[in-house]
Amino acid sequence: MDLFSYRNGELFAEDVPVRAIVEQAGTPCYIYSRGTIESHYDRLVEAFAPIDPLVCYSVKSCANLSILRTLGQRGAGMDVVSGGELFRARAAGVEATRCVYAGVGKTDEEIVYAIREGLGSNDVGLFNCESEQEFENIARLARLENMVVRVALRINPDVDPKTHRYTTTGKKESKFGVDLERARRFFERFGRDPYAKLVGLHLHIGSPVYTVEPYREAMAKTAALVETLAADGFAIRSIDLGGGFGADYESLQSPTLQEYANAILPIAKPLFDRGIRFILEPGRTIVANAGILVLKVLYTKTSGEKRFVICDAGMNALLRPSHYGSFHFIWPVAPGESMVPVRRTPDPQLPGTVPQDVVGPLCETGDFLALDRMLPANLERGDLLAVFTAGAYGMSMASRYNSSPLPAEILVTGSTVEIVRARETFDTIIEHELAPRRLVIASDAGTMIASNAGHLEPIE
Ligand code: LLP
Repeated sequence: MDLFSYRNGELFAEDVPVRAIVEQAGTPCYIYSRGTIESHYDRLVEAFAPIDPLVCYSVKSCANLSILRTLGQRGAGMDVVSGGELFRARAAGVEATRCVYAGVGKTDEEIVYAIREGLGSNDVGLFNCESEQEFENIARLARLENMVVRVALRINPDVDPKTHRYTTTGKKESKFGVDLERARRFFERFGRDPYAKLVGLHLHIGSPVYTVEPYREAMAKTAALVETLAADGFAIRSIDLGGGFGADYESLQSPTLQEYANAILPIAKPLFDRGIRFILEPGRTIVANAGILVLKVLYTKTSGEKRFVICDAGMNALLRPSHYGSFHFIWPVAPGESMVPVRRTPDPQLPGTVPQDVVGPLCETGDFLALDRMLPANLERGDLLAVFTAGAYGMSMASRYNSSPLPAEILVTGSTVEIVRARETFDTIIEHELAPRRLVIASDAGTMIASNAGHLEPIE
């Protein structure tokens, strides 16, 4: 599952005591285990070896450059959903030709940036297009850039992944992709465009998906569409199955990667044998268990029957519990030998535990990491708590709400510890506000009124 384990009553990240890391790095901080990331990636590649997929790691799950570099060096491409994520992938040394680019709202500047980086110039890195208007826009911009780009159509297979409604993406009523009926018309209309070559299909049904059946169903619908399109005269050259594989928030909660593969391969392998290239976009299954968030207990208090553990970060550092009601196992970093949990569950069945709310310092009642969680009754000021399975959608969804500096990020490799994102300071919080600048507003509505496009050049 991961390389965070208790030794003599104390939590280790690979071969390093978490307490020793925190003494130098402070809290709140994310600690990642490189060994866990690499072994998850390797297991995925192994499980899907019969279809030899390009594994495009989903940058949104954890976007730290050192993690992207680790995976890029191991052979991964990247799944990006914005110009900023492509910029990160490039900064981590990953070629744009190994990136796939999804997202329902790509701007002109982002599309042009991706084209200029070379995304879409071969059959691997593709624009994953989500609508008719977006396709027309990609084709228009490719023509203006005098480039031919490869595009996959994101289809919405109308499969229920049985996960949180906020992260259900492959149902008809979600905003993503086009439904199967429209997919056929989409190819009729755009399948012969000279600048945007429609060569692939893309889907992503949701996240996390804890059963394999939705994948089987989505794969079967995709295979049927490939046949229909072939009969219509359109040859599909790549299929991107998206991400969504689970992680062990609770011990042994998720199917194994081999179990997902076993469901998908019987339908995918014959297509692979006919020359179709497969792409996967995993995020969570690679990094979720590879990261913990470490917090310090600032205060404890009781209010009536309720006991509160007040920590130095909450929903600002990890939004998932308050946003989705997600479970993250939380346990002291140094609980002592008699209090080491055997399984990560809401109640690890250890003596001397009582229900407590683990909350952050922010001025919101929704600022919690766990409610009524069984934790040692003797927690006190200065204790360190580890929030497990926090590597995915932890730091990447963190905010500076209440002007809280973002957490530091640490990467552990065996006994080597690196700070891979420095702790923010108050200065970094206000840096973009220090020099207000007056905009010249043109009276002619047709001219551009503001110019602050960062490194992206405005076009036209
Ligand atoms: N591909 C596409 C097109 C996606 O939208 C996503 C995730 C992935 C791949 C990667 O999915 P994964 O393998 O990581 O499950 N913030 C939520 C999860 C949102 C997922 C968004 N899309 C959470 O904290 O659970």
